[in-house]
Formats: sequence, structure tokens, C-alpha cells
Amino acid sequence: MQTPAAAYTADLVVFGGTGDLSMRKLIPALYHSDRDGRLSPQTRIIAMSRGGLTDDDFRGKVDAEVRDQVPVDDPAMWQRFLGRLHHVSVDVGGDDRSGWSALTALLAGHEQRDRVFYLASPPMTFGPFCRELDQAGLVTPLSRVVLEKPLGRDLTSARRINDEVGAIFDERQIFRIDHYLGKETVQNLLVLRFANAFLEPIWNSLWIDHVQITVAETVGTPGRRGYYDQAGALRDMVQNHLLQLLTLTAMEPPARNDREAIRDEKVKVLQALRPIEESSEVARFTVRGQYVEQGDAVGYLDEPGSTPPTEASKRVETFTAIRAEIKNWRWAGVPFYLRTGKRLPRRVSEIVVQFKDVPHSIFPGGSPNRLVLRLQPEEGIELHIMAKEPGAGETLLKPVPLSLSFGETFTARVPEAYERLLSDVLAGNPTLFMRRDEVEAAWRWVDPILAAWESSADLPEPYPAGSAGPAGAHELLGRSGRAWHEEA
Ligand code: BG6
Repeated sequence: MQTPAAAYTADLVVFGGTGDLSMRKLIPALYHSDRDGRLSPQTRIIAMSRGGLTDDDFRGKVDAEVRDQVPVDDPAMWQRFLGRLHHVSVDVGGDDRSGWSALTALLAGHEQRDRVFYLASPPMTFGPFCRELDQAGLVTPLSRVVLEKPLGRDLTSARRINDEVGAIFDERQIFRIDHYLGKETVQNLLVLRFANAFLEPIWNSLWIDHVQITVAETVGTPGRRGYYDQAGALRDMVQNHLLQLLTLTAMEPPARNDREAIRDEKVKVLQALRPIEESSEVARFTVRGQYVEQGDAVGYLDEPGSTPPTEASKRVETFTAIRAEIKNWRWAGVPFYLRTGKRLPRRVSEIVVQFKDVPHSIFPGGSPNRLVLRLQPEEGIELHIMAKEPGAGETLLKPVPLSLSFGETFTARVPEAYERLLSDVLAGNPTLFMRRDEVEAAWRWVDPILAAWESSADLPEPYPAGSAGPAGAHELLGRSGRAWHEEA
């Protein structure tokens, strides 16, 4: 087979290689890359796990669990993909060194290839794994390391992990993943803002009343209590995904479309976030909720899982809404409302930019313009404008959407976020990955909110599973006469 020009030759070593993320996202994404001709025939995928599997066992597992998730139109190509897969059993934190020796033997002689170590494992393993790799002499100048979120559980732990990983890898070799940055509409946000002239003059506090960023999920947390009890919605979603969406919405135009220029501007937004520190401010500007049983849907505490709920489980927020503010010239006085939750009625991720009303209305019944950037489902952009309802009588206004559906406009397959991000790792392009200062600035803003919640005697507000979230979320906007997009 001839290798296409853009195909990468790499050894990709995935820690947690048989885990949920790997089987649901990474392996399917790599298959798609292979199918599109972006992996050279020599590229290998090496899964590391405690599993005690042979290469053939692992290939059988992927055949059984991944084949149905991807389009296999050419069985020979699928077999070739399976042939790239290897498995190495590793005794994490134990005395048995044979796994590390096996990995060393597998990589020996391939030092001139790009080498990617993907750590799809809990954050406390990042430092130890990097040290093991270093001691085994496996970190070459062409190596990169990919860190899955969450990066720590607060600023202190994030710094420690960054120090530990940074002791082995240069910052340019470290790729901190936030899969939201790989989503098509998120990248389109940059194009919409910086490749079209009409938005920029009105993208500021003179014209914009407020912004809403929502990531709502219908799923709960079955089987994830071990992780979710430690995380909660603020750490799991806001510190990373929602703040990333906020930075892309609010950043200044970068001078160039390059890795540092874009990330420099994003960091400035995080640094300009007004801290929410006093407990009275935390009470006023943040809301947390936990879903409880309704109908057939169980509550968070009754979700099936490997561990029973503890006292701490009662304090975990499965929903949060926050009124954030950016203290800079462009955005002063414009609230950015962030909202995310599990077991909500609809799965939707969107950024809603609510413009101010006309300065003087000559028609009754108008409402301000609204730009909706929908990330999922059905990626698209809608601009809600006022139009006259047809009719011979009085002029009646109606908001109507100017709609762009990416699915209908572009026929090409929309790649999964992980596909784009893995391609960028293989290409060595870190633009869509979080830099150390970005992650730390996000924690710096989140930490006081976490601390105030932890020291408060109040529990999260209960909301029925499948409902629109706790009442407090509606009051958060209602206080200033605003409403969430779907309620307006
Ligand atoms: C993950 C969170 O980062 O993102 C999950 O850990 C969440 O709790 C998921 O469900 C949502 O991702 P997506 O792409 O389905 O919106």
C-alpha cells in the first residue's frame, strides 16, 4: 500500500488502553484515521493495562467491542487495523518489572519514530508513569505525552502534576486534552468570529447583554460514583469544558492562527475572570443541585455502582450554574452564565449570545436578537431575528431563526472530537490543547468556589431527574429579569 503524504508513522502507547475511554473513543478514532489514510502502515498502537492480555486477546476484544461502533466497509482494512494493535500488561505501582521490559523491547530500534504516550488513566498516575518511562529510557526527543482531564482536583494538585510531568517532558511535548476543543462547532466558533467581519464590531458590552453557555446531559452517573463523588459537575465539566468555551467566546482576536497566539489570548480571559471568593458571593452567584428520583429515574444516591453512597455523596453537585464576569474593556458588565448538569430533559451543548434590545422600539412586542451556536446535537448556528408576521392587520413581530445546519450544508462526515485531537498530537500541533498556565488559571478561579461549597453546611438543591434543574438556576437569571434560552 502506498503511504499518503500526510500519514504519520508513530508508536502510540495508551495507558488505560483497555478502559472505557480507549474502547469507546480512542480506538474508534484511530480506526477512522487509518481508514482515511492518515496512519502509515508502520504505525503501531500499544495498549497498556493490568489486564494480562496477549496481543491476540486484545485484538479479539477490540474486534468484539469496537467493530460495531465503526463503519467496516472493507474487512481486509479492519484486519490490517487489528494488526496494528499490541497489548502489554503492566503491574502499576508493583514490583513486577516485566511489563516495562516488554514495552522497552517493543519500542527498541524505533527511536527515530514519533512516540506518543497517551495517559488515559487517573491523574495521580501521571507523575509516576512519566517517571517510569524516563527510568526505562523511553522518552526520546520525538516523544509526546497526552494527559486526559481532569488534571488534578484543585490548583495545588494540578501544579504538582504539572511539575512532575514537566520534570520529564518539555512543555512543548505535553498535550493536555479537553475533548471539547476537538468538536467541530468549537473550532467553527473561531472561524465565525475571526473570518467574518460583521460580528467583531458588535462583539462587546455595547451590543451584548449576556452570554449563556450550557452543557446539558440526559445521562446520569451509573457506575461512575467512585469518580464522580470525587469530582462533581464543577471539576468534571466547568473547570475544563465550559471555561474553554468561555475563553473562545470572549478572547481577543489573536494575531496569528498559531499555537501560542491563540493560547495567549485564552489565558488572558481566564486571568480576567472576576474571582468569586466571599461566601456571600458564592451563595449569590453560584447554584448547585443534585438529581433525585422521579418516576422510573433513580436519584444520584441510588445510581447502581461499584461503591455505595457515603455521607460525602450527598454533597456532590450533579448540576451547577454560575454567573461569571470578565473584568476587561470588552466585557465589563456582561454576565456569562455557565450551566451544566446530568439527568436534564435534553442533551444540548450551546453558546447563546443575547444581544441588547433596540435602543428605541417603534413596534410593540419585539425581542432582542440572539445568536445560538449549537455544539450538539445537530451542530449549527442560528441567528434569531425579528420579522413581521404575514397579515394585513396590525404589524405583529415574531422572532425567526436564520439557521445554518452543518449536517445539511456540508456533506462530509463530521469527525469525532478525538479524531481531530489525535491527529493533532501525531502532527505535533498543540493549538487545541491546554497549556500549563491555562489549566492553572482555570483552577485558580474554581478553587474558592469549591472551598466555599465545602465549608458550607448547605447541601446541593434537589431537582427531580429529568427536570430542568434546581429552582436556584432560574432565579440566578430571573433576579436580573433574564431567562435561560429555552425558557425565554
Ligand atoms: C466528560 C465528562 O469530560 O465529558 C463526562 O467526564 C461527560 O461526565 C462528558 O458526560 C460529556 O462529553 P460529550 O462530548 O458527550 O458532551
